[in-house]
Amino acid sequence: MIIGLLNQKGGVGKTTLSVNLAASLARSGARVLLIDADPQGSSLDWAAAREGEPLFSVVGLPRPTVHKEIGQIGYGYDHIIIDGPPRVTDLARSAIMAADVVLIPVQPSPYDIWAADEVVKLIDEARIYKTGLKSAFVVNRKIANTAIGRDVGEALAAYPVPVLKASITQRVIFAEAAAQGMAVHEVDAGGPAAAEIEAVIAELMEFVQ
Ligand SMILES: Nc1ncnc2c1ncn2[C@@H]1O[C@H](COP(=O)(O)OP(=O)(O)O)[C@@H](O)[C@H]1O
Ligand SMILES: [Mg+2]
Repeated sequence: MIIGLLNQKGGVGKTTLSVNLAASLARSGARVLLIDADPQGSSLDWAAAREGEPLFSVVGLPRPTVHKEIGQIGYGYDHIIIDGPPRVTDLARSAIMAADVVLIPVQPSPYDIWAADEVVKLIDEARIYKTGLKSAFVVNRKIANTAIGRDVGEALAAYPVPVLKASITQRVIFAEAAAQGMAVHEVDAGGPAAAEIEAVIAELMEFVQ
């Protein structure tokens, strides 16, 4: 499966989810490649901060040719995650064209909900060439027991893109783990952050069936 994490808005959790979803898939024994399609190279930075053995391969490909190169670069991997770029439309378009499923992280804020408009349009355009392309929102940095956390699903319903039931809560462990180039399950294997990541993977697997 090729999962693209896309949203032209920065800071929504594309990189955080990319590394943790990749780590979660690798944890179950799959061969996983993470393609960093962001010129800023945050996933590469994450990999460089790591001291232990890598959990999966990370390559930088911040070029608008990801969709053309993915067949060769991704050869032999069970799953590929693409950490998408902010802003640059031709890079985002290429990452979308390369994916089987586009996961759009959104934070529970009206600004994020409005800004999602851009990536939804790009996905619509891509469907002209790629009819089977799937997409879904995933709510990230949800703050437990807040009205905005509950309302975000309703607000996103205005888009013709489903929202995953699984969501990711705002938790310091995501930043703490990233600082060491680690996945949340390595810091706290049985913890709630790792469980949320696993739930996203499980729902995604069902969604692409
Ligand atoms: N669920 C979360 N809980 C706490 N911090 C988070 C969470 N998701 C992302 N962050 C933090 O928010 C910032 C932006 O996230 P990042 O994954 O880099 O976004 P993007 O790749 O979309 O720009 C980072 O500092 C990251 O550690
Ligand atoms: Mg990023």
